[in-house]
Amino acid sequence: MKKEKYTVTAALPYANGPLHLGHVAGVYLPSDIFVRFLRMNNHDVAFICGSDEHGAAITLRAKKEGTTPQEIVDKYNEIIGKAFNDFNISFDIFHRTSSDIHRETAQEFFKVLESKDHFTKETSEQYYDKDYNQFLADRYITGTCPKCQSENAYGDQCEKCGSVLSPTELINPKSTLSGKTPEMRTTSHWYLPMQRHEEWLTKWIKEGQLNGLQQHDSSKWRNQVTGQCMSWIDNGLRPRAMTRDLDWGVKVPVEGADGKVLYVWLDAPIGYISATKQWALDNNKDWKDYWTGDRKLVHFIGKDNIVFHAIIFPILLKAHEGLILPDNVPAYEFLNLEGDKFSTSRNWAVWLHEYLEEYPDKVDELKYVLTSIAPETKDSEFTWKEYQTRINSELADILGNFVNRALVLTQKYYDGDVPALGELTDHDKDVLAQMEAIPVKISKLVYNYKLREAQAEAMNLARLGNKYLADTEPWKLIKTDEKRVETIMNIALQITANLSVVLQPFLPNTAEKLSEFLDFKTTNWETAGSHHLILAGHKTNKPTILFQKIDDELVASEVARLEESKIIEANHDKQKDEVTFEDFTKMDIRTGEILDAEKVKKANKLLKLVVDTGLDKRTIVSGIAEHYSPEELIGKKVSVLMNLAPRKIRGVESQGMILMAENEKGELSFVVPEKDFISGCEVR
Ligand code: 2FM
Ligand code: ZN
Repeated sequence: MKKEKYTVTAALPYANGPLHLGHVAGVYLPSDIFVRFLRMNNHDVAFICGSDEHGAAITLRAKKEGTTPQEIVDKYNEIIGKAFNDFNISFDIFHRTSSDIHRETAQEFFKVLESKDHFTKETSEQYYDKDYNQFLADRYITGTCPKCQSENAYGDQCEKCGSVLSPTELINPKSTLSGKTPEMRTTSHWYLPMQRHEEWLTKWIKEGQLNGLQQHDSSKWRNQVTGQCMSWIDNGLRPRAMTRDLDWGVKVPVEGADGKVLYVWLDAPIGYISATKQWALDNNKDWKDYWTGDRKLVHFIGKDNIVFHAIIFPILLKAHEGLILPDNVPAYEFLNLEGDKFSTSRNWAVWLHEYLEEYPDKVDELKYVLTSIAPETKDSEFTWKEYQTRINSELADILGNFVNRALVLTQKYYDGDVPALGELTDHDKDVLAQMEAIPVKISKLVYNYKLREAQAEAMNLARLGNKYLADTEPWKLIKTDEKRVETIMNIALQITANLSVVLQPFLPNTAEKLSEFLDFKTTNWETAGSHHLILAGHKTNKPTILFQKIDDELVASEVARLEESKIIEANHDKQKDEVTFEDFTKMDIRTGEILDAEKVKKANKLLKLVVDTGLDKRTIVSGIAEHYSPEELIGKKVSVLMNLAPRKIRGVESQGMILMAENEKGELSFVVPEKDFISGCEVR
């Protein structure tokens, strides 16, 4: 196999909030699988990511949380970076676009394009919010989408239909800052005249061919990607502003540009280059080797980023000259959650960092499920029920079961030593041939970015092993034909060793465990398929259980949590439906005092409280562990909803609820009488 050079990027996540499973399934996990596979095949790879720390996404978040953009990006860069680490995503670097090296790189890039006359300077009328003294570009303005009539389209994009827009196309525009209808004012900006690039772009996207330009295999580009690009081009490319009137971002590095910064979609993709520079500096390499010459540039992105990576950034790269263009832009469709779209504002999400805090030992389980349902060709859906089914009936029952049988029987019959491979039956030969074919199939699929099928192929090896043991029944045969059992067990162990190789890109932690059980490890993909990976006489270790089954309680409590956030959100911005006085008096609310507090095991958010309610002392489970330590709660006065139907939460029965107020930053406060009242006083 020819050794190639790759620079693989994963879309830089905005540092304006944590990552949810949709982001993971559609960008970070597939890119990680792809890169791990490339590394095992000895290709020369750089895997680049970082946080996208400019643009309106950040400044608007800062405004919402009542803090500064810098604090926002520091906070979320940390949360996101840690989550990637804990999820075992193997970036070579996770960088930041607020760094000095990025600012310098982006400014230099701009200056090169400016000096080669690739920008035009144009003066135009733009929306302006006079209450805030600010021009309103991108997310600073919302209105009705002219394409799909959705009422919440942004000035740069409609999230409902994915159309890329400009503010003046919006129907009924409103400022995100004041909520008012904006006025028009004149301002000047640098524009990229994209229409100049129509001809070569069309040829390059459709055919992958172009004299003097990086070639690509157009048959590998996903139809959605080519389709979206062509529909953009067919609609006519227009000049697009590359600067903004804002004070948060990379300053425009030319005279007469006070108060102007680079458009975030100019600066962010350059972030891939600046991150590579930092990584090269840290590792004694030359960054140019990763952006020039005979190297494949691959951008893993979500479908809402297609035009930026397959049209705008290629225009910028070509205009700059000397840099490579993408070989492929594998874009993912969207992942939905329990029948609805992921939504940060509605908290309809499973947050990666929360999952990892809650289930730190279930990293590969989540990877497996997300790859199985990855939205490669169409939108797909995550449900906790499917999470449970895939883990229990595939990971545990097929992979876990096979590996456990193979290794436990080896312990039992041979004290862990690999028995000899004797004479092969036709059945054995057929099984070995199937085993040999699997890594070849996986390779082909991975190089074609079909990672979902590739993982299924890897699991087929476990299926093959399971079936082989079920068909040959060594546990029965051991009584009559010990010699034959040696061969069967040798084959079963070769399959296990092969699993430790082919699972590495998909389930690296699991593959590592298999290697420990077998006391055998190779990171060389080319060895996969062989039935001599471990030799007779080699000693294997006692295995432990690979995958714990997921119980119904986990599914029920996760679904209940989501439903709760839906109810809370639905009620947040408007007054709730009317209730009668009689309805209100049904609620028994009393003052109380916390006597004892302890963490609920394996649940980072939950505390188990013992509360004196005046009537009794009862146990209440409360989701406040991230806000209060158990010690500081003892002696705290609280208000308790006494007659809420008891619920079992994480195995603990909760007999009531503590009343809390929550502000817009998500901070919590106890709701208590202003005087020092004893426990048991009624609240009404
Ligand atoms: O859509 C997003 O989340 C963007 N922050 C992606 C940027 S990708 C690249 F260009 F940096
Ligand atoms: Zn729309």
